[in-house]
Amino acid sequence: MYSIPRGTAAITGASSGIGAVFARRLAARGHDLLLHGRREHLLAALCQELAATHGIRATYVLAELSTEEGVRAVEERINAIPDLAVLVNNAGSGSLGNFTEEAVDEHQALVHTHVMAAVRFMHAALTGMRTRHAGAVINVSSVAGFLIGPRNAAYCASKAFLTSFTESLHLELHGTGVHVQALCPGFTISDFHARLGYDTSGDFFRKFMTAEDVVDQSLRALEREKVVCITGAKYRFGLLFIPRFIPRRMFYWLVRVTRDAKWLRHAGKRVRR
Ligand SMILES: NC(=O)c1ccc[n+]([C@@H]2O[C@H](COP(=O)([O-])OP(=O)(O)OC[C@H]3O[C@@H](n4cnc5c(N)ncnc54)[C@H](OP(=O)(O)O)[C@@H]3O)[C@@H](O)[C@H]2O)c1
Repeated sequence: MYSIPRGTAAITGASSGIGAVFARRLAARGHDLLLHGRREHLLAALCQELAATHGIRATYVLAELSTEEGVRAVEERINAIPDLAVLVNNAGSGSLGNFTEEAVDEHQALVHTHVMAAVRFMHAALTGMRTRHAGAVINVSSVAGFLIGPRNAAYCASKAFLTSFTESLHLELHGTGVHVQALCPGFTISDFHARLGYDTSGDFFRKFMTAEDVVDQSLRALEREKVVCITGAKYRFGLLFIPRFIPRRMFYWLVRVTRDAKWLRHAGKRVRR
């Protein structure tokens, strides 16, 4: 059974959703925090609340991770933490749109945020962790990384990268005292879908898993040294069989009919803003 070492936790995308819950859970365990995001009012309020409630030190850094400059700003802050115990690479957003209909800069921004930022932050964190023989990195990937997504190609591919990268690092880090996890949530209640323009007040969205459940499953799985944590039994079961064992042509058909399903279009009706 692995025990997360004492020290500071750095969490990207901590202003809402899964990242904010990681901040709450890790603060409750006594970790000092470096939080990242772009919405300053949310980060400032969270730092203030968690410092007052748990007697920890909490600071934040604002940065746009789709830019080189933003990534460097966070990387510098991670490098400057002498007792980094946990890094949670969580910042991310969704995409909706056919590849050629969206500007290529949009795709690049998503890949930069999910992939380049995470790789640089992992490198910064793991270098020190290896020297200290202690620490953990959680990369918030997605069940989408096991799937394919028409109108969501960059998202699915970037999450597949994160999961695969994490599993390779797990083998590299064997015996070093440092642990890595790819956290693969399914649909989760957060700001994620509202930002994509969905009206999230309907029943469809209320049935999603809570961010609290996702984070608790992740931390329990880390303690059990689980490398890939898929949250929710239905996702674990579905992903075990569907993409792996059915013929690829049937898989494409299944993805196509699911994408076009009336119930899904109705449930996830986008609102114009
Ligand atoms: N919700 C789901 O159904 C679901 C399912 C599977 C995986 N995930 C993954 O879970 C992670 C967290 O998402 P969430 O569901 O908690 O959504 P969320 O509530 O929208 O939180 C996303 C966080 O990422 C930050 N962020 C997004 N794009 C950024 C950028 N370009 N530069 C800097 N910060 C950025 C946001 O910062 P600001 O708002 O402050 O700008 C926010 O703190 C994401 O990686 C997402 O892909 C979510």
